[in-house]
Amino acid sequence: MPKIFVTRPIPEMGIKMLRDKGYEVLINEAAKERAATLDELKDGARGADAILSVLTDKITAEVMDAGLPMLKIVANFAVGYDNIDLGAAKQKNIMVTNTPGVLTETVAEHTFALMIAIAHRIAEADRFARAGKFTAWGPELLLGTDLCHKTIGIIGLGRIGSRVALHAAKGFGMKVLYYDPNPNPDFEKEFGAVYVANIDELLPQCDFVSIHVPLLYPVKSSEAGTPKELFDRVNSTYHLINEERLKKMKPSAYLINTSRGPVVDEKALAQALKSGVIKGAALDVFEFEPEITPELKELDNVVLTPHIASATIGTRSRMAELAANNIIEALEGRTPPNLVVK
Ligand code: GLV
Repeated sequence: MPKIFVTRPIPEMGIKMLRDKGYEVLINEAAKERAATLDELKDGARGADAILSVLTDKITAEVMDAGLPMLKIVANFAVGYDNIDLGAAKQKNIMVTNTPGVLTETVAEHTFALMIAIAHRIAEADRFARAGKFTAWGPELLLGTDLCHKTIGIIGLGRIGSRVALHAAKGFGMKVLYYDPNPNPDFEKEFGAVYVANIDELLPQCDFVSIHVPLLYPVKSSEAGTPKELFDRVNSTYHLINEERLKKMKPSAYLINTSRGPVVDEKALAQALKSGVIKGAALDVFEFEPEITPELKELDNVVLTPHIASATIGTRSRMAELAANNIIEALEGRTPPNLVVK
């Protein structure tokens, strides 16, 4: 009977699909509110045909080795897969899958929730009201910024970036600029969007900048021989937004990040927010997750959410189903639909 190791509890639907197939499903219940430890990952992987992992769990070569020779697939419960060593998986003939598509709308909605929250000072106003400071309506009380007619710069025009563009252009009447390694003329026509071939030229033109790229680290010399299709890291996104680039933004601009924390140099961002280099930031992801740079927590011009952009009941359930389905397909000898590595 195939054995499935689930690194942390996930919505029941995915578990039910696996159990209905007659698989033995081992869930690492101890890690309900924290990441799984290396020992838990290795112990769970031993003898498993499949690992269903979540993004807090580093599926390294060491973890995969613990699962060999049985381990055939690591199915990530996330669209991002920077927690998995893809080179090691390829080398060891282990498939890797993710959960794209089902969370696109939810993450785009959360991006807008953050954008509206920072521009209309929602979290700050909530703190103000709760603190009993609302003594009278005021003509200049907590003035914010409109989104309408403003310019948004979208960095990364994948599924989520495109959906953010739809809300921006068609819902909020914003002008859309975008950067992506691959320009998309059809998208430009549909949304009146303008391609800017260089991030440094995009930033000074935007009132809002929203990031939608995968986390890609630069090539390490030890990886130099790794297959090109896996590690084409010329387009590294680590610290894509750094001190120098923050200075290229308008002092009135806002930065929104729902991608991955290390895409932004968080220390440089805290400094830029403190010193007025940019007006505000709204972040769902953090460079040293779950730690948050302490200065950010002190600032009023920041909205923080704890990596919940895809966290709706429906979406998390669909992610669990997709991850389970990828495992079933792989173990029944078919190609899983959301293959990242094989
Ligand atoms: C969430 O961050 C994901 O990658 O699904």
